[in-house]
Order: sequence, then C-alpha cells, then structure tokens
Amino acid sequence: MKKTIFITGGAGFIGSHVVRLFVEKYPDYKIINLDALTYAGNLENLKDIQGKPNYIFEHADINDAAKINSLFTQYQPDGVIHLAAESHVDRSITDPNAFIQTNVMGTANLLNAAKHLWGKNAEGKRFYHVSTDEVYGSLGETGFFLETTPYDPQSPYSASKAASDHLVRAYGNTYEMPFVITNCSNNYGPNHFPEKLIPLFINNIKTNKPLPVYGDGKYTRDWLFVKDHARAIDTVFHNGRNGETYNIGGFNEWQNIELVKLLCDKMDEKLGRPAGTSQGLISYIKDRPGHDRRYAIDANKINKELGWYPSVTFEEGLSLTIDWYMENDAWLSNVTSGAYQKYYQEQYK
Ligand code: NAD
Ligand code: TYD
Repeated sequence: MKKTIFITGGAGFIGSHVVRLFVEKYPDYKIINLDALTYAGNLENLKDIQGKPNYIFEHADINDAAKINSLFTQYQPDGVIHLAAESHVDRSITDPNAFIQTNVMGTANLLNAAKHLWGKNAEGKRFYHVSTDEVYGSLGETGFFLETTPYDPQSPYSASKAASDHLVRAYGNTYEMPFVITNCSNNYGPNHFPEKLIPLFINNIKTNKPLPVYGDGKYTRDWLFVKDHARAIDTVFHNGRNGETYNIGGFNEWQNIELVKLLCDKMDEKLGRPAGTSQGLISYIKDRPGHDRRYAIDANKINKELGWYPSVTFEEGLSLTIDWYMENDAWLSNVTSGAYQKYYQEQYK
C-alpha cells in the first residue's frame, strides 16, 4: 500500500463521502475509518464499500487516548484526515461539554498520538483538520470570510472548533507537525442527519409536519454540495501547502426563508402536491440563542492555488438530495427512531 490514512468521523455525513471517495479513487491506499458511532455515525452510510480490500473500520472514540495511541502504533498512518466531531449548533447550546470534550480534547488526543508516532521526522506526513467557517463568527450584510479573518466564534460548537484549529496550528508551530486546515461553509446532500436545516425540512415536508424557521428567517448561509466538499478535501490533502488554511465554500448564499420556500416548491413537484402546499407548513418559532446572522466564504484561495471549484450547481444538488431522501425511507426511519424522537420533542417543544 502506498499510504495508510486515518479518516476520523468517517461514518458521519461528510466523513462517509470522504471515505468513499478515497477508497474508490485510491485502491493503493489503506483507508482506516475511526468512528465512535455516536447518534450521528451510521455504518449504513458506507455499506456499498464495506467489503473493499483497502477499507477498514475501527470502532474508536477519539476521547479514549489509550485506544487512539494503540491504533497509531498498530497501523502507523502517514496521514490523518480529522472530521470526527460533535457538529450540531443546537445540541452545543444544550450540552456544551460534549463539544468541548470531543472537539477539543479528542483533537488533542489525535495530535498527541501523531506527534508521538511521527516525531520531528515527519517529512511526507500530514495532519489534515476539517473545520468550519463558523469559527469566524457572524458577518453583517456585506463582506466575506477570508483565511485571514480573525476568529470570533459565537456558539459553543464554533468555539470548540476554533479551539481545535488553534491546537492544530500550535502543534505545527511547536512540534513541526505538518498540517493543513480547511474551513468550510454549510454542506448538504445525501446521508445528512435530519437535525440540520435541509434534511430536517425534507423529512418534515414528506411527513406533513411543521417547518420550524428560527426568528425572522433572514439568516444567511452559503451552501455546498457534500461531494464537492469531499473533492476539496482530496485536493487539499494531496496538493495543499503545509501549514496553510484554505476556505471552502459554494459561492451560493441563501437566506433561510428563501431556501425553505424553494425546497417546499421542489418537494411539491416531486410529491405531486398542488403548488404552494408545503409552504403552508412554514412556522416561525423562537430564535436560536446567539444565532449568527450571516456566513459567506471567499473561496478564491483554493480556487486560484489548487484549481478547486464546486462542480454541482445548487439546482442539481438540491434535486439529487431530495431524490435521495425520497428513495431512502429505510435510512430515514432508522435514524429518526428512538433517541431522535426525544431530541426532537425537547428541541421543538
Ligand atoms: P456528523 O455529526 O454528521 O458526523 C460526525 C461523525 O463523527 C459521526 O460519524 C460520529 O459518530 C463521529 N464522532 C463523533 N464523536 C466522536 C468521537 N468522540 N470519536 C470518534 N468519532 C466521533 O458531522 P458532519 O456534518 O459530517 O461534520 C464532519 C466534520 O466537518 C466536523 O468536524 C464538522 O465540524 C465539519 N464541518 C461540517 C460542516 C457541515 O455543514 N456539516 C461544515 C463545515 C465543517
Ligand atoms: P443548521 O443546519 O443547524 O446549520 P448551522 O447552524 O451550522 O448553520 O442551520 C442552518 C440555518 O437554518 C441556521 O441559520 C439555523 C436555521 N434553522 C432553522 O431556522 N430551523 C431549524 O429547525 C434548524 C435546524 C435550523
């Protein structure tokens, strides 16, 4: 095998697309998926590649330093692509400690294990930390996040991701660990857990449930199709410069309410419902505390330096996503049973 790569959080939404891309594109790499299988991790996301000879799953919690160290010793990875995290802002508001634990301490455990294995002789090794645009805080009506924008995280989630970004840079600076960080905007696509806006609303439209829009609905996000994020990660992992940060975005800003209306109209078409039916489900509810008003990424650095650009338009991506949720009832009902019901009732009571 040419390279051995650990991908953490590979059973989650973005991680599963990254694992699949690497397993299929690089048959001469050994890809090891390290995942604790929390509520957000699901091996069903990867059932199509389960038997591939270059793919291994390791059930591991990044908070368990001893287990992580022993996996580094066992497999001697050349690279780590670190996606494992607690990822939902609303959950970080009700249970911040879980985010501090996994996102900060879990990242530290991985960094320590990589430092121990690679030492100062880390030529050709790479610690790739996958982060979010939310570390930059909130924008007003104009402007974009650049790689040089000062950090200003506003939620426990984004603060924990910011802390992990700082740790990665500090290990690079102090211990000469080769690293790269990307900060990406909101993703959407197949296998997205239905607690985040797009999959939650697709599921609610399907089942005729209210669509809970926070505040005035005029919050703005920049949306990127998940497979384009996976392509960007492949590009940066192989061609990004050591010690650099690259912002990744979709050049695709939407106010929540406009996006929700578009989703309703598309779903009406696909479900054969009269136009306007699903918009009747929109229900404005109490705002999220500390809600960031606008995120918008300037992704020109990765475009100019590494030639990456989104390949899927929003029109195509949304259509593919809706089709996937329409065709995967079993996946949806598996992930929305049990603990999900309790979460939903608590969050939207
Ligand atoms: P997700 O919640 O869908 O998946 C997270 C995965 O990590 C799950 O498989 C879960 O089981 C695993 N995990 C959680 N805690 C773990 C632990 N202690 N040990 C091992 N595994 C653990 O998240 P996602 O949306 O796929 O996000 C992946 C990464 O990308 C995160 O680091 C997130 O901050 C970042 N990111 C996400 C978005 C987005 O829009 N979803 C945008 C930018 C960056
Ligand atoms: P989300 O998918 O949680 O991503 P993030 O908060 O990380 O950007 O939310 C996207 C936007 O949608 C955000 O402005 C909050 C809003 N939102 C709602 O209005 N209602 C909801 O039920 C959810 C989950 C999100």
